[in-house]
Amino acid sequence: MNTRRNFIKKATIVSAGISVLPNLTYGFSTNKDKLKVALIGVGLRGTNHLTNLLQREDVIITAICDVDPARIKIAEEHIKKHKNPKVKIFGKDDYDYKNLLELKEIDAVIIATPWLWHTRMAVDSMKAGKYTGLEVSAANTLEECWDLVNVHEETGSHLMILENVNYRRDVLAVLNMVKQNVFGEMIHFRCGYQHDLRFVMLNDGKSAYGKGVEFGDKGISEAAWRTQHSVLRNADVYPTHGVGPIAVMCDVNRGNRMVSLTSHATKSRGMHNYIVENGGENHPNAKVNFKMGDVITSTIETANGETIIVTHDVHLPRPYSLGFRVQGTKGLWEKDGDRIYIEGQSKKPHVWDDSKEWLEKYDHPLWKKYGEHALGAGHGGMDFFVINAFVESAKENIPPPMDAYDAAAWSAITPLSERSIENNGEPQDFPDFTRGNWIKNKPYNWMKGTF
Ligand SMILES: NC(=O)c1ccc[n+]([C@@H]2O[C@H](COP(=O)([O-])OP(=O)(O)OC[C@H]3O[C@@H](n4cnc5c(N)ncnc54)[C@H](O)[C@@H]3O)[C@@H](O)[C@H]2O)c1
Repeated sequence: MNTRRNFIKKATIVSAGISVLPNLTYGFSTNKDKLKVALIGVGLRGTNHLTNLLQREDVIITAICDVDPARIKIAEEHIKKHKNPKVKIFGKDDYDYKNLLELKEIDAVIIATPWLWHTRMAVDSMKAGKYTGLEVSAANTLEECWDLVNVHEETGSHLMILENVNYRRDVLAVLNMVKQNVFGEMIHFRCGYQHDLRFVMLNDGKSAYGKGVEFGDKGISEAAWRTQHSVLRNADVYPTHGVGPIAVMCDVNRGNRMVSLTSHATKSRGMHNYIVENGGENHPNAKVNFKMGDVITSTIETANGETIIVTHDVHLPRPYSLGFRVQGTKGLWEKDGDRIYIEGQSKKPHVWDDSKEWLEKYDHPLWKKYGEHALGAGHGGMDFFVINAFVESAKENIPPPMDAYDAAAWSAITPLSERSIENNGEPQDFPDFTRGNWIKNKPYNWMKGTF
């Protein structure tokens, strides 16, 4: 603890007074002062985090872990291109990550593995005293949601859910408008994950995208693990890209909370049709029954009287959209159509404005400051900001913007939607993961221009 406090104190002193891109050039003079980060899982997503971390002068990559030697090789090649000292390698079996967690020198850990590993790895990482960053979605069951909260409370170790969409430029501009009361009192939201993933969830086992109709042992990357969830679960298994930004706009866990949900699923056709069209009707996978409905719609009620409609739609042909709608007593934003209407302020009554002017006017201070740099970081820049928030929060060992309670509440949509669908849309109550503290918790300051 003492060492940790000294580290924080020193980091704060060294960083004071530097105004240009402080997040990248903290000017730590020795490796000893840098945040030592380890990555568990360096597949496609983990490698993206790795490349963003390697650009920072305040971070040293200390260890990496992956059970796939090919991914370790790619990660090592990236690391070699930077001044980063040699890293320790783990991954001889599925549990070698526990040996990585025993390294005392590691301050922070980023977990980007398949979903079924998320909670157990995050729990072990928090127990090892590491500042933990966890990819989305955080948990698969209500028990796992509670595990994240309980272990965070028992250990005092922080957990950040790495929800990058919360940092999307339009999302942060709209959050700015929400905070400045442009939409009036918030009433209704829509969001979701609407992304044709057939070419990701099915491949030829050699390249991650676009060819073949294999999955499981014969697939690679997400086809190796994600597709099985569509076979066995009828649930919204990926709710956080949509609900994360909305939860922040309506102060979930900080003055508000998600109280209950109802979910419905359509029939399932998309994956089967794709397999038949691309692999032929005699391909063995043409016989697989996909339990997950093609479109899953959940309606959430909040304690403050808003509703949130969340959609999961990944099996059908469609252009990508998270389908945001943010609506209050004075007006609304709709992402589909890129339009905004504010009563009394829009150019004409009952006519949409193009959202461009509004979003530029309310551009978030973070994007104004670091936008140019962020754009190179992946996913239109938001990956830079989520990693920046993780590193800066870990350096100070302070609660992150999106914490264990958020990870639990947002991820709980998966098991709750599953149970509701199973029971013909029966309402399901959200556990109060904050144990009542949502009543007094203050919102995180999302409008500050640092992280
Ligand atoms: N936030 C985003 O925009 C975003 C984008 C893509 C993926 N993701 C999330 O990131 C995570 C990883 O996705 P991905 O696309 O990189 O998948 P991936 O399959 O490409 O990578 C996962 C990696 O984990 C490794 N792994 C599996 N079990 C392991 C274990 N026991 N120990 C160590 N390594 C292990 C695999 O070998 C693989 O390299 C998922 O949770 C996914 O939902 C988030």
